[in-house]
Amino acid sequence: MCGIFAYINYLVPRDRKFILDCLIKGLQRLEYRGYDSAGIAFDGGNESPDVIKKPETKIVKKKGKVRALEEELACEKDMKLDIEYDIHCGIAHTRWATHGAPCAINSHPQRSDVNNEFVVVHNGIVTNYRDIKKVLESKDYVFESETDTEVIAKLCKYVYDHRENEDMSFRELVEVVIAQLEGAFALCFKSIHYPSQCVGTRRGSPLLIGVKTKGNLSSNFVPILYRDNRGREFQDDVAYNREGTDSAFKRSFSTTDFEVSGDIKAAEYFFASDASAIIEHTNRVIYLEDDDVAAVMDGCLSIHRMKKEEGESMSREVQTLKMEIQQIMKGNYQYFMQKEIFEQPESVINTMRGRVNFKDKEVILGGLQDHLSEIHRCRRLLFIACGTSYHSAIATRQLLEELTELPVVVELASDFLDRRTPIFRDDICFFISQSGETADTLNALRYCKKRGALTVGITNTVGSSISRETTCGVHINAGPEIGVASTKAYTSQFISLVMFGLVMNQDRISTRSRRNEIIEALENLPNLIKEVLEMDDDIKKLAEELYEQKSILLMGRGFNYATCLEGALKIKELTYLHSEGILAGELKHGPLALVDKAMPVIMIIMKDSMYTKCQNALHEVTARGCAPILICQKGDTESQSKASRVIELPGTVDCLQGILCVIPLQLLAFHTAVLRGYDVDCPRNLAKSVTVE
Ligand code: F6R
Repeated sequence: MCGIFAYINYLVPRDRKFILDCLIKGLQRLEYRGYDSAGIAFDGGNESPDVIKKPETKIVKKKGKVRALEEELACEKDMKLDIEYDIHCGIAHTRWATHGAPCAINSHPQRSDVNNEFVVVHNGIVTNYRDIKKVLESKDYVFESETDTEVIAKLCKYVYDHRENEDMSFRELVEVVIAQLEGAFALCFKSIHYPSQCVGTRRGSPLLIGVKTKGNLSSNFVPILYRDNRGREFQDDVAYNREGTDSAFKRSFSTTDFEVSGDIKAAEYFFASDASAIIEHTNRVIYLEDDDVAAVMDGCLSIHRMKKEEGESMSREVQTLKMEIQQIMKGNYQYFMQKEIFEQPESVINTMRGRVNFKDKEVILGGLQDHLSEIHRCRRLLFIACGTSYHSAIATRQLLEELTELPVVVELASDFLDRRTPIFRDDICFFISQSGETADTLNALRYCKKRGALTVGITNTVGSSISRETTCGVHINAGPEIGVASTKAYTSQFISLVMFGLVMNQDRISTRSRRNEIIEALENLPNLIKEVLEMDDDIKKLAEELYEQKSILLMGRGFNYATCLEGALKIKELTYLHSEGILAGELKHGPLALVDKAMPVIMIIMKDSMYTKCQNALHEVTARGCAPILICQKGDTESQSKASRVIELPGTVDCLQGILCVIPLQLLAFHTAVLRGYDVDCPRNLAKSVTVE
């Protein structure tokens, strides 16, 4: 989806080259979200800022990759790059087309008029843009793009030109504008009427602000001060030292305004829709809440609330991002997806760290602890998600039913909403989402909340909307996932759900041996994942045999039905081949008609309670002349005799086997996509974070 990045320097002298590089780098960090065009706006003209008479905003936009935008900027031969700005605001955007085709004119920043008086970058969709456009057109505003966003820029100009109060601030102006907007958005504004100021706001789409007060600053630098609701001021380093460096630094701020201010001599601010664009500059960030309007003016950041609901928390947390810059770099890998697949031995450890006590065979999920008795008393457990996250719930459903002895319902968020599914106060609703921003999942969460159910988030993104809006939850701690196709998040979601099942089962004596068996298997899992990853070369060879095929079917059942769904999703989204995950028990009810000698079939047969039934499916397939590729347990000679190729995996407890089985399929999809010449990290038409319904 779209990405926002803005950079504001205040009394930190930066030349234009530095500013442009910073904006471009910010966009590159957001590339993984998926986009089709990009653009930036910055102070134009070649006069020095000291003598400038009339501020100018220059916009450069380009269809395609951020690289293309960079090349376009390099073509601006007349633009001086060494002009130094003590104070400057630049905004930037990567667009994923929703309204209007991908092209420069539809890219952001969108502008109010030919003089670029107001420019705006926007993530999300303004649903009432047609009505606003009609009104503005009737007032002779001429639109140049097909976007919904353009109405926002034009509305800014309208409000500015008709303001009654000459001293209307930029923030106040933006508040008037967004009061007219319906839909979901994160926005950043720049204007020649408010030079070097930046205003950002959000409703339903994430936006955070990085605050940097140290580093390459001049020696007379005085750090930013935080002011609490009693008017006391804190120098941030002092506050951090006192409260620890964790994200626990929390302070209440006065009723509707939160201010990062004080005797500021120098500061830099970074607005972004995603922490990965900020982390290389600072790890101190503030996540905006819906209807917050944040403004940077004269080096101070103030956040104003548009609305104040009763009982709403009026604190803003200055969080310390735990993310490291290396985590969002490719390291020795060629692709992010490849790196993320190979990170799984560590990411699963991180998911379990501090939660599974292997010695005492105990599992504690701190985020759920206070709500466990309510969860135990519930009518049913619902797991609601999209795509891969949905598959993680399918993969663990059987185990959750077994360990909790409760009805477990797994729902695709979009369908759940379409059906307006009945929800009761004694339902416990889980929302699984890597990004924590998926629109359908977030809407399902709000739907369930309204009906009084307890809501639990299973997310990978600290500070995301889902993690903030749920009553409690579990962070899967898989680390940033940049490749659009989810891999390590899937295995970490899987483990998080297994851990939840174990927590629910903790006090049951009758199932102790089963629980112990699972915990022992969890301990050994990272080593087994490493063993599977060592088969990479074999999987690559298999990809070389398959990459020119038109279709690939995957079959399995029981604990590995979800593996087939997930493997097929990986194959289709990365390789653009047709691929289907088929429940082996359903073969005779239709899919068997697809099977013949020529059809590539991958079958998963593990030595679990489904073994005999899977053997039957294997017979049904081989009887149609097909010699499937088999994913099976080491030494299973019986199954292997009927296969064209075999991927032999180490065995683990039945309910965790899906983690080992999915890895060869992730690798297969990856290698096949590379062989077909496709962009593995950014498959066509897809986005990392699907913030539209
Ligand atoms: C597929 C994939 C998607 C996501 C889905 C939900 O590889 O990544 O299917 O799983 O869009 O996204 P999250 O988990 O962010 O809610």
